[in-house]
Amino acid sequence: MGPSLGTRLERDKETVHVLCSRTSGHFGGSFTYVPGALDRSGLIVPNAAGVTSPLHVPIVAIDGPSGSGKGTISRAVARHAGWHLLDSGALYRLVALAGARSGIAPDDMDGHADLARRMDVQFGSDAAGAEAIRLDHDDVTAAIRTEEAGQGASRVAAWPAVRAALMERQHAFAQAPGLVADGRDMGTIVFPSADLKVFLTASAEERALRRYKQLKEKGSGANLAALSREIAERDRRDSTRAVAPLKPASDARIVDSTGLSVAQVVEAVLSLGRSQGLWA
Ligand code: DC
Repeated sequence: MGPSLGTRLERDKETVHVLCSRTSGHFGGSFTYVPGALDRSGLIVPNAAGVTSPLHVPIVAIDGPSGSGKGTISRAVARHAGWHLLDSGALYRLVALAGARSGIAPDDMDGHADLARRMDVQFGSDAAGAEAIRLDHDDVTAAIRTEEAGQGASRVAAWPAVRAALMERQHAFAQAPGLVADGRDMGTIVFPSADLKVFLTASAEERALRRYKQLKEKGSGANLAALSREIAERDRRDSTRAVAPLKPASDARIVDSTGLSVAQVVEAVLSLGRSQGLWA
């Protein structure tokens, strides 16, 4: 007999109720959560204490190059589904920022990997509901979104030790009722068994133009030609690195957003999830 709805989940000795929406409807599971025991697919690995059916946390992986709109689309999809959101790029940006702030040498790979493991990060929202990110209790929401932080992130992201150090943090986001994970290697490396993998792309010109408009709206100075060069450089570095390069998973659905509005792209992803029974 399958697990009954609303059965108990013990996590860190606390008992909470879980409910998980899947293609076959709602179901719950009863098992003991072992901290850090999420496998690479986002499945919570049961322990040996009489578990017959592990609880599957549904995961949607949204990967793509810089400026493809992953952040906006992932947030909208997570909101629609009522799921958690992992902005993995923010983690790499935080490592780069933490490195610069701590004064370690820019080429100190082990020092950055150590920071990636130890840094105290809080993802939340401010009173108005806007994103708010803290690094060691300091508000770094704006600081990590600069083009410079993006370049720093792309540099530290090429180091295997940093990628390995961030793996456990990323897996910890896979929590019921589900996760939308945004990045470069969500579908290939971090969550290879994700229920739906989307590779979101757009022409390099359109991505540079979107970024230009974003910066202008924020009142920051921006130069379209310089942005195009920076995006091309980041694309090159992210897709040619030896570890976890940016590329679509073999089972990813490619969504080209060139010429589409945000609403059209969100609908394209929602309809893929709908056809998989992930949400209504
Ligand atoms: O998505 P973003 O622009 O915030 O990401 C910043 C950089 O971090 C990006 O240039 C490459 C790196 N990154 C990565 O290597 N793997 C991820 N899963 C996410 C980001």
